[in-house]
Amino acid sequence: MILVTGGAGFIGSNFVLDWLATHDEPLVNLDKLTYAGNLASLSSLAKDSRHIFVQGDIADGALIASLLEKHQPRAIVHFAAESHVDRSIHGPEAFLQTNIIGTFQLLQSARHFFAGLSGDAAAQFRFLHVSTDEVYGSLAPDAPAFTEHHPYEPNSPYSASKAASDHLVRAWHHTYGLPVLTTNCSNNYGPLQFPEKLIPLMIHRALKGEDLPVYGDGQNVRDWLYVGDHCTAIRCVLEKGNLGETYNIGGRAEMKNLDVVHTLCDLLDELRPKTKGVSYRDQIRFVTDRPGHDRRYAIDSTRIATELEWKPSETFATGLRKTVQWYLDHENWVENVTSGAYRQWTQLNYKEREQDNLVEQK
Ligand code: NAD
Ligand code: DAU
Repeated sequence: MILVTGGAGFIGSNFVLDWLATHDEPLVNLDKLTYAGNLASLSSLAKDSRHIFVQGDIADGALIASLLEKHQPRAIVHFAAESHVDRSIHGPEAFLQTNIIGTFQLLQSARHFFAGLSGDAAAQFRFLHVSTDEVYGSLAPDAPAFTEHHPYEPNSPYSASKAASDHLVRAWHHTYGLPVLTTNCSNNYGPLQFPEKLIPLMIHRALKGEDLPVYGDGQNVRDWLYVGDHCTAIRCVLEKGNLGETYNIGGRAEMKNLDVVHTLCDLLDELRPKTKGVSYRDQIRFVTDRPGHDRRYAIDSTRIATELEWKPSETFATGLRKTVQWYLDHENWVENVTSGAYRQWTQLNYKEREQDNLVEQK
């Protein structure tokens, strides 16, 4: 048995589905079901007794303690977080509460549970903390990619809160001996991602005939990883990772945002063509930049590749095509999650962004 937090979110639900497709070992999935958590993502598990879903908050120490006592998991895989940078700019408090206080409460409960274990159960126990490359800050255009030794320089409320949680995890290992592992991953994309993040947002808006809002000059660089590859990396670290270590995970797929949006438009032109001669590219608009927008992220994943023999199975081209096809095939899922609250968010985030006068280079 393992305990997963945040298993109704994007990466968590992919992890839960992959886990149960490849393991017989059951799991408890603890998720608060915020706007980002969606049980529809897990509907295929409705009759699977190996999936035990509990709605609750990672900051609820009593609940965590009772779940650990009852289910005696051999590992905790901690995904639960507030994860969207733009939301952290509009409302940082929820990020501090969940990402810092929530992780602290989870660590405390895990620590007390671990103290009561002995023998094989103690030797096997793991606390795996899922974190982000954003804790390392922003890279200059020619700077080498982030290694695990790169200094922490978080720039947004989101990345600062994730950096704080990474430090807590490290401290709980060094001070209390909790057997922890931390992963710092680059930008994920794939099925079941909430359409507030770049790739699903652009697909959703393109299909609705809406503007495609590119922040700033569109030259910011992200290093993209298909979500299924992130899930295999986490399983690999859980199985073989050295206690107390951190592992960077990335796809070696650096792309400028505008190139990502162009590629998406071209895929949609091919798979869901509009009237003859009209391209989705015509919907692209440059809008006011994100405050404090990090220019470039890139992950050096040498450690996980050489020490744990992990490598991604998808290229950006294969992963993106699969992703676009998934969204075309699952318009009901998208309709389901883009409720009234979603519309309020897009009003808040995009209404006040002026359209910039940059001209799209064709
Ligand atoms: P997400 O926003 O899609 O999902 C987060 C999930 O956590 C949701 O199901 C939500 O209901 C749940 N949650 C939020 N607050 C909670 C709380 N207090 N208690 C219990 N559950 C709570 O996020 P994601 O994109 O799937 O990211 C998962 C993790 O991976 C996060 O820790 C994030 O920082 C990290 N990460 C994400 C990316 C990415 O590109 N998406 C890349 C690297 C790392
Ligand atoms: O690097 C890992 C991180 O990647 C994760 O830790 C975060 O949880 C995840 O949200 C993601 O953060 P980003 O800020 O990089 O992702 P987002 O999809 O929000 O934006 C990707 C890039 O696209 C970024 O440079 C901002 C830009 N962007 C985004 C949106 C939503 C736009 O140009 N227009 C948009 O409408």
